[in-house]
Amino acid sequence: MNPDEFFQAQRLHRDGDFAAAVILLKQILEHTPKHVAAWRLYASALREIGRSGEADAADKSGNAIEADHTADVGASLLFLGDLKRSRVFFERAIALDADCVSAHWLLGDIEGREGFDDRALAHYRRCLEIAPDRTGPAYMIAAMGEGAAPAQAPNDYVIDFFDWYAEHFDKHLTENLLYTGPQQVAGTLRVLRPDGVGPTIDLGCGTGLAGLAVRDLVGPIIGIDLSSEMLSRTEARGIYAQLIEDDLLAAMQAQPDASADAILAADVFVYMGELAPLFRECHRVLAPGGIFIATFEDAQATTATWKLEHSGRYTHALGYLERISADAGFSKFESSTIVLREEYGEPVRSLLVNFERAP
Ligand SMILES: C[S@@+](CC[C@H](N)C(=O)[O-])C[C@H]1O[C@@H](n2cnc3c(N)ncnc32)[C@H](O)[C@@H]1O
Repeated sequence: MNPDEFFQAQRLHRDGDFAAAVILLKQILEHTPKHVAAWRLYASALREIGRSGEADAADKSGNAIEADHTADVGASLLFLGDLKRSRVFFERAIALDADCVSAHWLLGDIEGREGFDDRALAHYRRCLEIAPDRTGPAYMIAAMGEGAAPAQAPNDYVIDFFDWYAEHFDKHLTENLLYTGPQQVAGTLRVLRPDGVGPTIDLGCGTGLAGLAVRDLVGPIIGIDLSSEMLSRTEARGIYAQLIEDDLLAAMQAQPDASADAILAADVFVYMGELAPLFRECHRVLAPGGIFIATFEDAQATTATWKLEHSGRYTHALGYLERISADAGFSKFESSTIVLREEYGEPVRSLLVNFERAP
């Protein structure tokens, strides 16, 4: 937008030429539709010339855009862990526009984190009313315990979240949440295969932190992930031989038999509950003697299988992992309890497990 145009519209409005201001502001808003001040001035000029219905609609548009900007500020504060101040911004956004879906979505997150499940549910239900096509709200309603939990997180929910998170992922996870997944997986590979391995697959490779941690130990690495933004950061590292943008099960079904020496999965199974079909594919794709190393959040005896937690992440029972790996044909199973990262300042109790295909 030419900034002079808006100054000119302000001048016309100040001089009382509201009809001309309306014409100019309409043009400005056609090419700069997120200009909150232009919507405000447009509404005022419309009201001055008696077009009050259109003025109300213009005010509503201005409110919706201002609410989105306000929710964006709240989101940045939430990202930094400032729940108290971010809440103020989300509440202000909803006061401006009761249909501000991002504010309801993130307030739901805050209420859930603070243990107010009923309030969290109310926000997620409101998101569903406003945006029935989005899968995230229904998923979080299930995570809060209402209705059946899906077998894994919906792909578009994962994509939306990680496309948004990608830019801050490495710094936020490693510095703020003290995340150690890639190092834990790499450490196990180093101990169990000190001479290294050949072709390797990284499930849910994200920004490629695991590839970075194992690069001196492995042959060509294939990375699989749903999020194109995460994958573009992996590509920039220049470590991976191939990157596949797909769901893990579909991508693994397309891999040839016995084509990998190692499969790694750091902090991706928190987005999948049912793992038996994927484990069968991992066993088929591993060469005899191949190794599969993965991390899980520990369900700690709250279920015999897997559970979708209020956080929206899945936890797994050790017994379930042992059972499905044996059913898939793995001959060896070893596990240890680790701290994968922190959540709200508390350590997240996790499992580091390695499975082997018989030589
Ligand atoms: C917490 S990140 C971990 C990334 C990486 N493994 C690391 O340790 O830094 C989880 C990643 O799994 C991916 N993901 C989640 N569910 C997936 C699925 N069903 N298929 C493929 N990728 C998935 C996400 O897009 C995200 O990049």
